[in-house]
Amino acid sequence: MVKQRKGKKRSDGASLQGQTNTNAKNSTTFKTKSEKKSASEAIGWHRVALLVVIILLAATVVIYITNQSRLSEDDHTPSESVSMRYTEIEIGSSASSDDHVTSESSSDKGKTPKVSSEETTSRQDDDELKRRQEGQDVDEKKTTKTTKQKGMKKRGAKKDSKVKKGKTKTQSQEASDRVLQSHIPASDQDSGIADDIMNADKLLEKRRTSDALKAFEQIVGKFPSSVRAHYGLAMSLDQLADEQRSNQLLTQSIKEYEKVWELSDLANPSDILRPAVDRLANRYAFMGQSGKAVMYLKRYLNQFSDDLPLMRELSIQYLLTGQNGKARHVLEQILKLRPNDGFAMGHLGFVVKSELDYEKAIPLLYGGLRGDDDRSREGRFYFHLGDALQRLGRRDEAYEVYQEATNNGIFTTPWQRSLYNAPNLKAQPWWKPSETPYVDSIRLLEANWKTIRDEGLSVMNRDTNAFEYEDENLRETGDWKQFTLFMRGSENKDTCSRVPKTCDIIRKIRQAAGNKRGQVKYSVMLPGTHVWPHTGPTNCRLRMHLGLVIPENVRIRVGNDTGTWEEGKIIIIDDSFEHEVWHEGSSMRLIFIVDFWHPDLSDQQKRTLSPI
Ligand code: LMR
Ligand code: MN
Repeated sequence: MVKQRKGKKRSDGASLQGQTNTNAKNSTTFKTKSEKKSASEAIGWHRVALLVVIILLAATVVIYITNQSRLSEDDHTPSESVSMRYTEIEIGSSASSDDHVTSESSSDKGKTPKVSSEETTSRQDDDELKRRQEGQDVDEKKTTKTTKQKGMKKRGAKKDSKVKKGKTKTQSQEASDRVLQSHIPASDQDSGIADDIMNADKLLEKRRTSDALKAFEQIVGKFPSSVRAHYGLAMSLDQLADEQRSNQLLTQSIKEYEKVWELSDLANPSDILRPAVDRLANRYAFMGQSGKAVMYLKRYLNQFSDDLPLMRELSIQYLLTGQNGKARHVLEQILKLRPNDGFAMGHLGFVVKSELDYEKAIPLLYGGLRGDDDRSREGRFYFHLGDALQRLGRRDEAYEVYQEATNNGIFTTPWQRSLYNAPNLKAQPWWKPSETPYVDSIRLLEANWKTIRDEGLSVMNRDTNAFEYEDENLRETGDWKQFTLFMRGSENKDTCSRVPKTCDIIRKIRQAAGNKRGQVKYSVMLPGTHVWPHTGPTNCRLRMHLGLVIPENVRIRVGNDTGTWEEGKIIIIDDSFEHEVWHEGSSMRLIFIVDFWHPDLSDQQKRTLSPI
């Protein structure tokens, strides 16, 4: 399976190479036109053309790198259940380089993973958003060092409560809070420019951001080694980046925060160093560069090893980059310093559960839920605690946990535990075709079931590796593999080329082919398989199963009702409800899974919901 994953990336890489060729072709055309000009001009044009080629190639490399990071993220998209990978929940971390995407902007949410548009955002989605924004808050411990700063903090707090009426604080407001907290010049050298700094800060506070930027630029020009001036400049750029939604400004801002690090005396740092590192790591993470975030957090923690909030941040960055072992180490360090730390317990429980040590994970996850940090009370902590309990046969306890999460507005009901939800959708485990607007599509699929079956079987017979193992850790026993044709609303050209007639049929069904929160795939299950009770990630789809090869003694439970498949017939389930599958027969079972948009979603929602 690992091999196949790599193969998948290679094929994407190949199509990107295609892009390079196209670019090269364009520049050739450009040269040909220039041949009409005089010889000397032609040399000039050659240079220009060469430059264009270089720029285009560079751009291609950038696109390639950006897409690579996206691809790897797509690769991890869980399709059957709420992920054990921490990556799944991160919002905005793959902000593209051409578009400044902020976590509080609603219009761009569709472009960032796992964020829905304003209209369709569920309470769960909102909670995640809030958590992320809260995660950006500067640590109380280091920002209350001086009386003056305390005063500043209070002003910040007042502002906070005002803003609360509307929504959570925006990034720029947080940025200006940080400014307010640090009027004190960073060093003796800085004190000569204290007034200038104070005035520039005030501009920033009044949200005259461009003026503040100019003022700080001037100060930096005069005092290039002033840590405080660079910090002010960094924050002005940061705030302006937010206002203008510009990644270019954000990159400049990051450079200035880095300057603060470079110019700081680590043996005797100013109060500014910590918020600068905090923000620097946060902005790098926002840009999808967790590696850099980790680097600065580690550098800081090497020097100041008991900074719990930044240790927590570091553990998140490790989890986001799939370095669970390192995350575990940091979380254990936190628990050594603070044994009842709610954040560390919950997150360590999450790591331990992903290693399938349910006995050990359960008390930690409970500790997180009962602890002092909301970040360990998010949906997936309830989800995986209940899951661990269910797998150990502690069903009643699991359902108490699910009930509590439901009371807290995290799950719609204890049965329906998807975390990426649109509100007010009709919800029932089993659907009849006549309850959907998809009767014609269902007929089309049923009428063509033999074609679909034969193409699937021929792939299976020719290439046993074409089908990928279920890798979301949902099987207790047995073998379950899938061959995916469409996912997140996009066709997989490679797999589709191997079942062309089937993909032609699906292309005619726009509500399935274009379903950004679903897949179209073959699913093969071997005798002796038991799939643990699990819940899909979203309530935005209805899942159709077309029976292709159905032996005796196979069954699926969704909610309270158990059913089975029939060859050439469709069943419709809502996989956001708990479901469980058994294969107690004696030969393989093959079905074709087609996810349709939930019929209650509006066109606007279908357009703007983030892909899953
Ligand atoms: C599931 O959706 O978890 C299963 O029903 C899929 C399958 O192949 O039975
Ligand atoms: Mn499932």
